[in-house]
Amino acid sequence: MSTNYIPALRYSFLTSVYDPIVKLTTRESFFKQSLLGQANIHSGERVLDVGCGTGTLAIAASALKPGATIEGLDGDPKILNIARNKAKREDLDLRFTQSLSTEMPFDNESFDKVMSTLFFHHLTTDAKAATLKEIYRILRPGGQLHVADWGKPTRRASRWLFFSIQLLDGFETTADNLRGKLPAYFADAGFQNVLSTQQIETIFGTLSLYQAEKPRTVA
Ligand SMILES: C[S@@+](CC[C@H](N)C(=O)[O-])C[C@H]1O[C@@H](n2cnc3c(N)ncnc32)[C@H](O)[C@@H]1O
Repeated sequence: MSTNYIPALRYSFLTSVYDPIVKLTTRESFFKQSLLGQANIHSGERVLDVGCGTGTLAIAASALKPGATIEGLDGDPKILNIARNKAKREDLDLRFTQSLSTEMPFDNESFDKVMSTLFFHHLTTDAKAATLKEIYRILRPGGQLHVADWGKPTRRASRWLFFSIQLLDGFETTADNLRGKLPAYFADAGFQNVLSTQQIETIFGTLSLYQAEKPRTVA
């Protein structure tokens, strides 16, 4: 299993330019708002953004639903500094935790929803399984997982566009995404009602949105 993490743009010195690059290249606002629409967060819910990076999704969730408790988790202290400063500027009281996703410092069944964007393609297959086991553990029965990440290309051109992401983030960690394996991994971890809900074309390939649910009664 991985004991480390791949920084947002692979090299730590690029972290400071992460936000403008993602905004320009991934239709960020559109796909993150689509995921938030899907997650349908309610007041009173506790929600975790795993691999939160600069906190853009967590901050948007908190602005949308001030009555919910939104938290972020990331392995990279440098990117969490950016996230904390962004939240402070918006006057939002968000908690960001530095930790690897494979060993999260949270109690069992303590979150209503977990979401993540552009994160799973940073993990090896083993780390994906370990992370999903952790997400399953911290979600309450009936809790939901909402994910947006690179998926199986819907067009031949998207496959070739995705090559540049693979050059940056690595071929090993991105291969599962490219083969459309994330939904099967969610099911392997015990999630049910696994759905691929939307495909969004970007200049780097196809982004896929997924949702899954922890069973209400665990056998
Ligand atoms: C491409 S960035 C995505 C950031 C953010 N979710 C977004 O949509 O902009 C991937 C993030 O995952 C974090 N990361 C990678 N592997 C991790 C792990 N095993 N545990 C925690 N964070 C991890 C990186 O530090 C980075 O901030």
